[in-house]
Amino acid sequence: MKILMVCLGNICRSPLAHGILEHLAKQKGFDWEIDSAGTGSWHIGNQPDRRSIAVAKNYGVDITSQRARQFSTKDYDLYDFIFVMDENNYKDVIRLAKTQEHKEKVSLFIPNGAVPDPYWDDSQFDSVYHLIHAQCEKLIESLNKEKLTK
Ligand code: 4NP
Repeated sequence: MKILMVCLGNICRSPLAHGILEHLAKQKGFDWEIDSAGTGSWHIGNQPDRRSIAVAKNYGVDITSQRARQFSTKDYDLYDFIFVMDENNYKDVIRLAKTQEHKEKVSLFIPNGAVPDPYWDDSQFDSVYHLIHAQCEKLIESLNKEKLTK
């Protein structure tokens, strides 16, 4: 199973979703390939935001080896599922879809909801971590139930 997490900068939210899902999948013994990307290009090559690194570390997840990259059309062929953090990410990612099959790979990470962008507010990182962690647990359960063995 190949899963891509997408947000705007690929330094705050999607690195957390990437790191947490990777951590949980590994704990369950699933050989899943997980990555993350941003719709924007400002932070290409950068480590995750120090506040995301800190909150993840606080809960035992190491995201320091991640580097930001930009989402590209090629990702549609490389991943089975593409999860976006908010509606703006959804619009930006869908715009690059070339086929219906591509479009069907994209979903909001939180069904009918969004992960708020914590970039401008230090106090949001802890709640964003918990929101993402809870959704990763649900995702593992639902994807495992479907018995997708890709
Ligand atoms: P992210 O947060 O999309 O969760 O990585 C942001 C990071 C950087 C910026 C905006 C959002 N920025 O404007 O640079």
